[in-house]
Amino acid sequence: MLAVRLAAGRGPADVLVLPVTGGDGQLVDVGGVPAEVAEECAALLAQAARAPDGDPGPRVGQAGKVHVLPRPLGRPRRVLLVGIGDGGEAGWRAAGAAAVRSGARERALTVALPGDVAPAAVRGLVEGLLLAGYRFRLGAQRPDGPRLRRVRVAVPDPERFDAEVAEATVVAELTCLARDLTNTPSITKTPAWFARQVATRAAAGLRVRVWRETELAEAGFGGLLAVGGGSANPPRLLELSWRPRRAREHVVLVGKGITFDTGGISIKPSDAMILMRKDMAGAAAVAAATLGAAELELPVRVTALTPLAENMPSGSALRPGDVVRHFGGRTCEIRNTDAEGRLVVADALAYAAARLRPDVLVDLATLTGANAVALGKRTGALYSDDDALAQALAAAAAEAGEKVWRMPLVEDYREALGSDLADLINAPEGAGSVLAALFLREFTGSARHRWAHIDMSAPSWIERDEAELSRGATGWGVRTLLRWLRARSQAPR
Ligand code: BES
Ligand code: MN
Ligand code: ZN
Repeated sequence: MLAVRLAAGRGPADVLVLPVTGGDGQLVDVGGVPAEVAEECAALLAQAARAPDGDPGPRVGQAGKVHVLPRPLGRPRRVLLVGIGDGGEAGWRAAGAAAVRSGARERALTVALPGDVAPAAVRGLVEGLLLAGYRFRLGAQRPDGPRLRRVRVAVPDPERFDAEVAEATVVAELTCLARDLTNTPSITKTPAWFARQVATRAAAGLRVRVWRETELAEAGFGGLLAVGGGSANPPRLLELSWRPRRAREHVVLVGKGITFDTGGISIKPSDAMILMRKDMAGAAAVAAATLGAAELELPVRVTALTPLAENMPSGSALRPGDVVRHFGGRTCEIRNTDAEGRLVVADALAYAAARLRPDVLVDLATLTGANAVALGKRTGALYSDDDALAQALAAAAAEAGEKVWRMPLVEDYREALGSDLADLINAPEGAGSVLAALFLREFTGSARHRWAHIDMSAPSWIERDEAELSRGATGWGVRTLLRWLRARSQAPR
């Protein structure tokens, strides 16, 4: 990862990054900028403000907007003028990301901050720098071309921001871990591999249990075993728990962990399959968030459950018309083996509700293509019968820079899940994302009114670099979950 360090001095600032406010498009007074440099910057900004480019929106100072001042013979050799918008955390996050994108071919950058900068601004900036600096590389793959290595953030009394920098760093590191896991090709990423990757990162204070097939069979995880039955790479259930002594409540997080989704016997067309190595992004997010809760020592007990399986067609694969028996005894008639995510998540929810006594139960899953149909590419679909829980998750997402929109659990649609052969069918006709959520709700047992589900199929991936997101897996959900866990651990009871 990019090395970001706060320091009191600016050092030999070869490439200097200066913040510009939105609205008036003025340079923020960071002090100590040589007069001629400040004048050149002001002239560039004034010119940019005048130049109409057909874009009626705000331009100079807009969050993440960059104007470059080349000074080939000067010192600094280059100034990047980055917009911070309204100067809130999101504006600074966008500014950090923009500086990294614009300075990608430099070796180092120095970002100059004003002495009175807010702690939240520093947090946003550091997160933006670290998240945008991410690039997925396979094992021994060499870095391509010159790349940015170091960013110095120059601010008086940098120790004031130790807590924000530490938190931003943990959040960014774990988001990048989730991105790495999700980007990894499925030839490597078997269920056992995923469990091992997480287990090796679980330091002291975290407990790991990896359930194998015989244990899953004995306990009755019929959905997970059926979905994983078609693959030569057997299914697993990873149970990762953070149990601090001062915990007041227990949060259980469930993440869909399909390491590759071919659709199974109801096979997907090849184009629809290309990206299906990302079908474990929910598992990556909840596992990473739990590791993060431990690193931040949040005083809340967290258990992550990730049912892991590869959905393959084969002689041992699940068939349409089969009936599977989930954990706890509910049965499901399979109409479409491509609606596999709900089958594995259902087992984990039922296990959590029956055995783990959760105070809150939240699942994240790349569950339906319908998520993108309803909400587009960057917004997760949030479902819950608990208004306070839904609001808290939506607020955490907004603060963290991720988007969710609450969707309805339409009671009238419930009857579409009915079956002659079993308690439920897995792939009813109708509103895809809503029906999948209604299906999952059937397995939440006594936790039904303390449960939320996020369908994150769409925002789990991005085709091109955009702000703090680097192309490929986004690590979506880690930021939201850690904000929400932090808020929960601090809320008065
Ligand atoms: N993993 C897919 C959902 C998905 C689609 C995620 C596109 C990301 C991008 C899921 O297992 C699936 O195949 N869902 C089906 C459900 C249908 C068969 C009821 C879908 O959405 O088409
Ligand atoms: Mn599928
Ligand atoms: Zn899937």
